[in-house]
Amino acid sequence: MKTDFDREINRKNTQSAKWGVIQDPDDPSIWHTTDDYFGENRILPLWVADMDFPAPKPVVDALVKRAQHGIYGYTLRTDNYNQAVVDWMQRRHAWAVDPAWIVSTPGVVPAINFLIQTFTRPGEKILVQRPVYYPFFNAIEDNGGEIVSSSLVLANGRYEIDFDDFERRASDPAVTLFVLCSPHNPVGRVWTREELARMGEICLKNNVFVVADEIHADLIHRGVNFTPFASVSEKYSSSTVVCTAPSKTFNLAGLHTSNIIISNDRLRRRFQQTLNRCGIGKWANPFGVVACETAYREGEPWLERVMAYIGDNLDFLQDYIDRNIPGIQVVRPEGTYLVWLDCRGLGLDKWALKRFMMEKARIFPDEGFIFGPEGEGFERINIACPRSILKEALERIQREVETL
Ligand SMILES: Cc1ncc(COP(=O)(O)O)c(C=O)c1O
Repeated sequence: MKTDFDREINRKNTQSAKWGVIQDPDDPSIWHTTDDYFGENRILPLWVADMDFPAPKPVVDALVKRAQHGIYGYTLRTDNYNQAVVDWMQRRHAWAVDPAWIVSTPGVVPAINFLIQTFTRPGEKILVQRPVYYPFFNAIEDNGGEIVSSSLVLANGRYEIDFDDFERRASDPAVTLFVLCSPHNPVGRVWTREELARMGEICLKNNVFVVADEIHADLIHRGVNFTPFASVSEKYSSSTVVCTAPSKTFNLAGLHTSNIIISNDRLRRRFQQTLNRCGIGKWANPFGVVACETAYREGEPWLERVMAYIGDNLDFLQDYIDRNIPGIQVVRPEGTYLVWLDCRGLGLDKWALKRFMMEKARIFPDEGFIFGPEGEGFERINIACPRSILKEALERIQREVETL
């Protein structure tokens, strides 16, 4: 049976973070819980990156079967599990991974924290490309590092890397690690092989260790190709860790199962030691392993369909905004189901823009400024939802923009 992506599914009583809270318009650190999931005047949640679609049917069936077994004792990742990951990387990304390179963690964000603990010392500088996924900032600062940004440059509706600036920052001897977001959240760039090679060469030359966060690698729009960083050149493998997961691809984020791929034995052992020190050993979540293995083996047709639906959502959004909402420009993503909206034309400062979205339009996007100061005046919205919800959100924004 094919998933009906148009169907609105009420997520009430599922402890959904996305639908269960409403952020305070004046103080984003305050979250109000809500019981109103689809009410008339409900603030529409378009923030955190999960989909409002059910996971592929084979995954749901496998999880039901596993749940019905009734025994949820200590669980291992099997050779079959690792092989499913390896086969996926080969089939989807032409990337040859050895099963021995895979280390599992309960999420990519935890992995990035552990990687920073393993491969940097407090006081060292860590390079990012703002505007960028904000948990990178916490991971760096909470582990005693200093954020250095080689910020992306928006030119003619597309974000580019300023390579001179990137090289200048990477050559600072205090910069020891670079967190590459590929594809890039929030701006949606899918880096080309050439761009990856240039960043790789600069990092290699300056002894900068690369952590490539490729969690969005499977969410690529029509006509675009994704290249895994580690597949660009074997030269990089001795100083690179790649973070992967089925969680964004198949809407499994709550199962906290990700696969960190480290081809260098010595680096992998060091990373594993950090996990051991944190008491994260070989045990796995029984539902996470079942979902990951099944999704990678049987989820491909669903992924093709969901990306076609999200692509149509993107065309719908672009057309709607271009025709009806002056003051907002779509920065068209090449990958991810997140869309970066340039709202600077509305002439609102960052707090006024936030209040405008939450209190007037009554939608809850992620504010651009949380991705760094370069994001001020932008909003990030999640379009992995039924078109009816997206349409309602756009109509609400249009209605309020007309009153400005
Ligand atoms: C770039 C990026 N990395 C990591 C994550 C989250 O990873 P996890 O839920 O596995 O910790 C997200 C979620 O939106 C993301 O966009």
